[in-house]
Parts: sequence; structure tokens; C-alpha cells
Amino acid sequence: MTCGIWIAVCFPIAFAIILQYLYNKEDQTSLSLVARMAEGSESNPDSRIEEYKKMNKSAFILGYTGEVGKVLLEEVLKGGTFSRVVAIGRRKVEYKDEIYKNLEQEIVDFDKLEDHAKVFEGIDVGFCCLGTTRGKAGVEGFKRVDYDYVVNSGKMAKAGGCKHFHLVSSQGADKNSFFLYPKTKGLAEEALTNMSFDRLSIYRPGVLMCNRQESRPGEAIFRALVTPIHKAFPGAMSTSTLTAAKAMINCTVLPKDKSVEIFENKAIHRLAGERK
Ligand SMILES: *[C@@H]1O[C@H](CO)[C@@H](O)[C@H](O)[C@H]1NC(C)=O
Ligand SMILES: *[C@@H]1O[C@H](CO)[C@@H](O)[C@H](O)[C@H]1NC(C)=O
Ligand SMILES: *[C@@H]1O[C@H](CO)[C@@H](O)[C@H](O)[C@H]1NC(C)=O
Repeated sequence: MTCGIWIAVCFPIAFAIILQYLYNKEDQTSLSLVARMAEGSESNPDSRIEEYKKMNKSAFILGYTGEVGKVLLEEVLKGGTFSRVVAIGRRKVEYKDEIYKNLEQEIVDFDKLEDHAKVFEGIDVGFCCLGTTRGKAGVEGFKRVDYDYVVNSGKMAKAGGCKHFHLVSSQGADKNSFFLYPKTKGLAEEALTNMSFDRLSIYRPGVLMCNRQESRPGEAIFRALVTPIHKAFPGAMSTSTLTAAKAMINCTVLPKDKSVEIFENKAIHRLAGERK
């Protein structure tokens, strides 16, 4: 009886302490780029965006029907960041809104990406938001998308002259992990790092928060549990898809720190200008 009361009291307190800790803990990969932004010595990304637009850069987006890709596509089109945007995917998507009128869509077979080299030719910036889950695709399907498709896209992009490649990876990505998900993500990061892009920006968001229609019941419950935490401690363990998209755009227009940049969950929030 008393034991039950103790648990009821102690558990939420312990949980709150852990969250507070996560919220305040510094990222291991605290980048000078993000630090400069925080202290205000980096000029405002908003003015950089205007300069960047004048350069008439082109970009492609892979995985543009996924959670992050969808929002990213919308944001780059609304913001006019690039003079040309190519959405590369498996099937054509019908868009009604005006913002999509100049969008180019290229349909490819990801299992034979070598046949589509032309699609990637001369595109300056690449965003890879490809990804599935083991639940949806099975173990082999998951590896095929999150490793093979990602890595092959990187190769095609590099061959086509891509200078800046962005990869949406995941919190905890680690090629030495015992678990399938972080291991696959870590290996994909390494394979892309090995390609020596002029600039490779890797994002490792925590739980992605969005309003997705096709959400599965289990995930919906999980997200419902995470939502209050997300609101109270932004950056502790979650990232909204809009925050991720903003961070990617701001990263694009800011000068590079080093050839391979890794942005952990908290750095993503900083890069998006949502946290000091
Ligand atoms: C970008 O495009 C605009 C309009 O087409 C043109 O006036 C400008 O010279 C271009 N800038 C560069 C750097 O190519
Ligand atoms: C990256 O390169 C290193 C050194 O050449 C190699 O050992 C490693 O297997 C490569 N990783 C991937 C995932 O291709
Ligand atoms: C980039 O960061 C600034 C804050 O530094 C923020 O106001 C802006 O919304 C971000 N840009 C984009 C495209 O989201």
C-alpha cells in the first residue's frame, strides 16, 4: 500500500529530473557553427537566405512524401531558397497549391538508380529524407531503404556534381550498435562520409513530431505520450518536422564549419533558431 504511494510520487519526480537533465545536457557534437549562431556572431540566417537565393542554386529532395521531406519541400518552395527544385521519388504526386507550380518531379526506380544518373546531373544541393521502419518494411526492406537507397542516392548525387548533401539520420545512430535501427543509420552515415562530399550535413533528430494521417495506432499513442514532454522541454528528446526542415534550410545558407557536420537533436533546435 505505502509502496504504491511511493511509486506514484517518486516515479513522476524521477522522470521530470531525467527530462530536465536531457534538456540541459550539452550535445557531444556542439558545433562552432551553432555556437556562433547562439552568441550572435554569425550573421542572421535570414539575411544569408537572401544572399543565397541570388546564387540560383538547384536542389533535389529524396523522400519528399515522408514526414520530414514533405515539410522541407513545402518550406523550400515557400521560401524560394533555390531557383530549381527537383523532387525525386517512386511515383508522381499531384499537388494543387500554387507553391508547387515550378516543382519538377522525376520518377525513378530506387532498385536501379544507376539508370537514372541524368536526374542527378548538375544539381548543387541534395536532401535525403528517405527512411522507413522495420514495422512497415520488414528487416530486409528496412535495410534496403535506409542503407541501400540512401547510399546509392549519395553515389549518384556525388557523380552528378552535388556539392552539399544533407542526410536525415537518427538520434543514436551508431555503426557498432547491436540493434538494427541505429546500426543501419550509422553505417549509412559512414558510407556517405566515405564519399567525401564538399559538405555533408548529418541530422540526428530524436522522436519526430508531426500530424500524420496514416499514423499507426501504436505510434499515435506513443506520440500522444511524448507530446506534453515535447511542449515542456523542446529539444530534450524530440523534434518537430518543421524544426528539422528549418534547421536544414538554415544550414544550407550558413557557411560550412567542416566537411562533415553532425547535428544532434539539440543542435537542430539551435540551428532552426528555436533555442539559444
Ligand atoms: C540568377 O537568376 C536571375 C534571374 O534569372 C539573374 O538575373 C541573375 O543574374 C542570376 N544570378 C546568377 C549568379 O546566376
Ligand atoms: C568507409 O571507409 C573505411 C576506410 O576505407 C572502411 O573501412 C569502411 O568499411 C567504409 N564504410 C562503409 C560503410 O562503406
Ligand atoms: C533560420 O534561423 C532563424 C533564427 O536564427 C529563424 O528565425 C529562421 O526562421 C530560420 N530560417 C528558416 C528558413 O526557417
